[in-house]
Amino acid sequence: MDYYLKCNICNEKYGSNYAGQICGSCSGLLEVQYKKKVEPNLDAESFWDYEDQLPKSKYRHYLLGMTPLVRAHESRSLFMKMEIQNPTHSFKDRGSAVELAKAAEYGFNEVVCASTGNMAYSISYYSKLYGLRSQVFISTDANKDKINDIESVGDAQVHWVKGDFNKALAQAEAYSKKHKAFLTGDYCYRKEGQKTVAYEVMQQVRSLTHLIVPVGNATLISGVYKALKEMKAADKIRKMPKIIGVQASGCMPLVRAFKLRKPLSYERPRTKADAIAVGLPTFGNQAMEAFKETKGYAVAVNDRELEAEKEHLYENYGIVAELGGVASLAAYRKAGIKENDRAVAIISGANV
Ligand code: F0G
Repeated sequence: MDYYLKCNICNEKYGSNYAGQICGSCSGLLEVQYKKKVEPNLDAESFWDYEDQLPKSKYRHYLLGMTPLVRAHESRSLFMKMEIQNPTHSFKDRGSAVELAKAAEYGFNEVVCASTGNMAYSISYYSKLYGLRSQVFISTDANKDKINDIESVGDAQVHWVKGDFNKALAQAEAYSKKHKAFLTGDYCYRKEGQKTVAYEVMQQVRSLTHLIVPVGNATLISGVYKALKEMKAADKIRKMPKIIGVQASGCMPLVRAFKLRKPLSYERPRTKADAIAVGLPTFGNQAMEAFKETKGYAVAVNDRELEAEKEHLYENYGIVAELGGVASLAAYRKAGIKENDRAVAIISGANV
């Protein structure tokens, strides 16, 4: 759909021909604003049936999305959304499909991103499909096994960064300026692609009461919130489910800000859930708004609980997922959800 970009900080507007995701005046985050009311399609039969709800581009219809839902046998109130069935085994493919189409449309031949691993894997894959080179900046804290995946599906060049994700992010942004590479990652176009998880979930489950979302940079949770607002405004759903954000207790800036009612502040990650080890979530303020508007909340789960959940998923369902990927499941157990509620836990990644 036709759109423009608006800065979250200084409100500066940019046409869709602006080849960037950060405000040129104040470096604030840009947001996609559609020129017409979004009418989410809750009868979609394929991911690309959502094209009208995405920023206009020349999309190639690669396989993704429409991931299955599994109903838990141990509890009637729990459904699991299997985002691990995307081509690179995480929800990141939804965002990459949008971002890489935009990079190709603007005529770039190189993209750059910072990642804890999964996003780099996905970007490496889609850049290759779109014929672009990719540079990925990864913290030395990341899971080294993910590098094999990144290198096996594309031509991404991996840059190791001593320090955490936020250090890698600063270097990716600097690289993009210096080499005029399209900056990809947790920005506005990815958010648009990833919001489609919520369209699918609302199509798959009636009367949903809770949507449980793992949080790293908070792009997924803010995308899901955006999609729910669109569906509500278009009268496609009666009520928004409560949005529950989950972080690892060894890296929980959002949980802390929510519980202490304080502004977000950086926290050095100390968790084995490497995928969600982000010390300062880029879209954290939007996640806080999502909690407020949906009467949702933030939950922390520890590494022991995550390990147990990973085992549980394998032993009971034959499903392999990573620690960050099962965080929503661990949160379900302690989020105060009742037997007659209906909750969806997003199983977000399987790259172990
Ligand atoms: N689950 C998995 C498996 C992830 O890889 C991520 C984020 C999240 C949840 C959280 O999503 O960042 O939108 O809040 N991974 C990023 C990466 C940071 O670089 O792969 P988010």
